[in-house]
Order: sequence, then C-alpha cells, then structure tokens
Amino acid sequence: MVHVAILGFGTVGSGVAEVLTQNGGLIDRRVDDLVRLKYILDVREFPGSPYADCFVKDFSVIEQDPEIDIVVETIGGATIALDFTTRALKAGKSVVTSNKELVATHGYELLNLAREHGCSYLFEASVGGGIPILRPLTSCLAANELTQVTGILNGTTNYILTRMIRSGLTFDQALKEAQDNGYAEKDPTADVDGHDACRKICILAALAFGRHVYPDQVPTQGIRGVTLEDVAYADSVGYKIKLLGRAIRQPQGKVCAYVAPHLVPGENPLAGVEDVFNAIAVTGNAIGDVMFYGRGAGKLPTASAVVADVIDIAKDLKKDRHNGWEEGAPDLVVSSDILSSPWYVRAQCTADQARLACGEIHLLARAGAPAGEAAFLTPPMTEPQIRDRLQGMEVGSLFRVLA
Ligand code: HSE
Repeated sequence: MVHVAILGFGTVGSGVAEVLTQNGGLIDRRVDDLVRLKYILDVREFPGSPYADCFVKDFSVIEQDPEIDIVVETIGGATIALDFTTRALKAGKSVVTSNKELVATHGYELLNLAREHGCSYLFEASVGGGIPILRPLTSCLAANELTQVTGILNGTTNYILTRMIRSGLTFDQALKEAQDNGYAEKDPTADVDGHDACRKICILAALAFGRHVYPDQVPTQGIRGVTLEDVAYADSVGYKIKLLGRAIRQPQGKVCAYVAPHLVPGENPLAGVEDVFNAIAVTGNAIGDVMFYGRGAGKLPTASAVVADVIDIAKDLKKDRHNGWEEGAPDLVVSSDILSSPWYVRAQCTADQARLACGEIHLLARAGAPAGEAAFLTPPMTEPQIRDRLQGMEVGSLFRVLA
C-alpha cells in the first residue's frame, strides 16, 4: 500500500483529497497497488469533513511515520513549505507540489536533496494548472534544442483581461469575479503584478534551458497599467492584450526572460486563449512550434496534475526521476532590452508628432477618444530605442507587440 499525506487543505489540497478519493478505484488499478490518503496537515478545524480522521496539526507526525511514502505540499509560499519539504525529502519521502514560488526559488537545491535521499520532487501542477507541460517539455520534446517558451501563464490575469475585453468590466470587478471563482492567489498582487507568471517562466526556462533562473533575475510587469482604452485600441486592429511570460535562448547558454503585457495579433493562437485558460507555446529546432493549452488554475484541474505526479511516484517509489537542472548564475539572464519588437503606444500627442518620433507608425482609433490622444503601433525596435524616441511625450501605455 502507498500512503499519502497532504500538507494544506486549501483549494488545491482539498481538490487533491477529492480526486484521490473519488478516482481511487482507477488510481489503484493504474498504480497496481492501493494508494491511500493517511494524513491532512492543517492548523484549521474542519468539522464534519469526510476526511475528519486524517487531520493532524503537527508535521512531525507525518515526518516520523514510516508508512508515508508521498507528501503533497499545497501550502504555498517559500517559508513553512520549504521547511516541511526539506524535512520530508530528508526523511526519504517523495514530495509532489503545485507550489511555483518554492520551485522557482529553491528548485535546484530541493531536486538535489531528493536525489541524495533516493526520492522524488515533482511539480507538474506548478505551471499551467492542469495542463501537462513540464513532463512533455523534458520527455516528449527531449530530442530538441529548445529555443523559446512563450506563455499565458496566469489564469487570474487572463480571466481579468478577457472580462475587460469581452464585457467592458473594470479591472476591480473582474478581479472580484476571479477571486470568487477560486482562481486568484491568496494575495492577488502575485497574480496581478505578474509575480506568479514570473515564477512559472523561471521553472519553464530552467527545464527548457537547463539552468536555474531565479525570479529576481526576471523583469516583471503586471496588468495594472492596462486600461479599457488600450483594450479598445488593440481591438480596433484585431489584437488582444495578454500577459505573457517569455524565455528565449541566447548565445553562450544565456537566457532572456521577462513578463509583460503584450498586444497579440488575432492570428496568433495565443490571442484566442480566454478566461482562466493558459497556453504555452514552445519552439524547438526539430518540432518547430508546439502549443499546450488547458485550464491554468482552479481546484480540480490543478489537483489533476498533482495526482498524476502522485501516481507516477506510486508506480515505482524508488525510481530515479531526477530531472533537474544546473545551478543558476548572476549573469545567466540577459536584459530584455536586447529584444527588438513593434510597440503599442498610447500618448498625448498628434499623429504628426507620433510620426516624427517613431517613423512609419500605424495609427489606431477608438470610439470616444479625447482630442490630443493618439495610439499607434511602431516599427520594430528595442526598448531603449522606443523610450528614447518617446522622450518628452506624455505616454499613457507602452506595450510590446508579439511579432
Ligand atoms: N493564481 C494562479 C493563476 C493559480 O491564476 O494562474 C494557478 O497557478
């Protein structure tokens, strides 16, 4: 029998308990053994819960129970979760997590710790919710030199932008809906300001390019600056505003990674990714372009990915699954300043002033635009170049266009 403990009975943890229980029969058949939930660690009380017998408040009960083979960490954050994950791995218990913050900040050391102690550290659910992306990246695409990963990596912000685009909701109204649906992080600033997407692109970059990329190395801009005016201008040319995380291989093994809102042309498949859905486009030198798409957040989609990792480990508890990456370095990540792209600009200026500053621009229009406002798309250039050309102009929004 394989015994499982869940740390944290929040949205994802309770989803994992539900999937393990409801799909117990098929999980047992697929593992060819009995997989049983033994403990749930949470400081809160859950009177009347169907899992009442499982609740414990002291992690050492789990740590010291030799029957526990797999620990599912759904606490989140990088403090208590780091302590419990470290202790579980040192006790020889495999750990499965959806915790992108922990993987993005401590993945390198935790993967090594798992290897040293003959167990596994798996985190498929940490990127893209229920979308199978990490295992395909490292196994199905293993024959490729990967050159680029670009993704809509945060369900909450994609939901907010979709509601702004489709229904004209304000940012606050759309955020409230996302929270009510259980998509947003406890603190929605992690979603809205791009930190959640940043952690996910760090994990993708590490797996795609083989070295740890730390969140503080990745310039990150969220969606607070996106207005309904920008949405309308983008829409006038069939573009959608999307928060993208990007990691692009550079010469000498370096990586360019960043998170920022982009205008995405309607013909790009990423433009059609709506609501809480995520999509990750990967480019490899043999496969060309491939895209992974699905529910990027939510209780059961995320639990689906967590339980898939549990099943993988339960099938062979002692298998060496080390799929890690090398250590990072302060000079590994190069600035996105080197990337040339067209830009979307909304500014207080005339069309002539915009042309004089930026050359052959494409002017945009929207109903109700006030006099003195211009919005336009520029020819490709780097960020330092566009900022230089816009000097002295009152700029409302400046976003890259995904070429
Ligand atoms: N808050 C995250 C999101 C949850 O909205 O994508 C999944 O990581």
